[in-house]
Amino acid sequence: MTKIYPDSHIEVQGLSARYYNLVLTIISGGVYDTFLKSAIAAMNIQPGEHILDLGCGTGRNACLIRNYTGNNGHITGMDISEEMARQFRRNCAAFNNVEYKNQRVDIPFKEKKSFDTVFMSFVLHGFPHEVRLQVLQNIFNNLKPNGRFCLLDFSQFHLKDMAFPYRILFKTFECKYAFDFVERDWKQILTGAGFMNFDEYFWFKKYVRLLIAAKK
Ligand SMILES: C[S@@+](CC[C@H](N)C(=O)[O-])C[C@H]1O[C@@H](n2cnc3c(N)ncnc32)[C@H](O)[C@@H]1O
Repeated sequence: MTKIYPDSHIEVQGLSARYYNLVLTIISGGVYDTFLKSAIAAMNIQPGEHILDLGCGTGRNACLIRNYTGNNGHITGMDISEEMARQFRRNCAAFNNVEYKNQRVDIPFKEKKSFDTVFMSFVLHGFPHEVRLQVLQNIFNNLKPNGRFCLLDFSQFHLKDMAFPYRILFKTFECKYAFDFVERDWKQILTGAGFMNFDEYFWFKKYVRLLIAAKK
C-alpha cells in the first residue's frame, strides 16, 4: 500500500505489521505488556463508557480497555491497515461490543454518536504538525461535552538530552515527525485545541507519557 505520509513510521507495513506486538515486546526488553496494562489502568475508565481508539492497531489496547468498560460499554477502533484490521478482528472476536472501522483519522470525520473518551496510543507523533491539528479537531468534534482525550505517546523532552541507549532506539525506530513531536508543548497545543484540566503519568524514564485532557 502506498504511504499517505512517506516519511512517517506509523504506517506500519509488511512483517512489522504482522509481528507488531512481538516487535514492541522485544524493543521494550519484554516489559511492554506490563507498561500497557498500567497505562490503561491509569486512564480510570468507567463501566459503560464509549471509547474511540484512533489508530487502534492490533486490538491489544482495545481488549485491555474492554476489561474496564465491561459489557455495557462500547469500543470503536479506527485504523487504515488491512493487516491491523485482520489482527484486531481476530483478537477482539470474543467481544460483541468492540468494533473495527476502516477510517483515516487525519482527515475530517464525525461519528453519529459522540464518545466519553478518545484514546490515541503512539499515533499522533507520526503525523506532520499541521495534520496533528486536524486530528485534534476530529477528537474534539467526536467527544461528548466534558469527554476526555487520553494521549499515550512520547513526552516532551530535548532529543539531544536523551539518555544514550534510549536515544539510539529512538533515532533508529522513529521518524522526523517524532523528533519534532517531542520538542513541542502538548499541554499548550491541547489548550489551544479546546482541552483543559490535564493529568499526566510517565513511564520509561519519563520519555513516555499518558496525558489526559478534558474537553472544555
Ligand atoms: C505505531 S502504530 C500504534 C498502534 C496502536 N495504537 C498501539 O498502540 O499499539 C500506528 C497505527 O496507526 C495506524 N495509522 C497510521 N496512519 C493512520 C491514519 N492516517 N488513519 C488511521 N490509522 C492510521 C497504523 O496502521 C497503525 O496501526
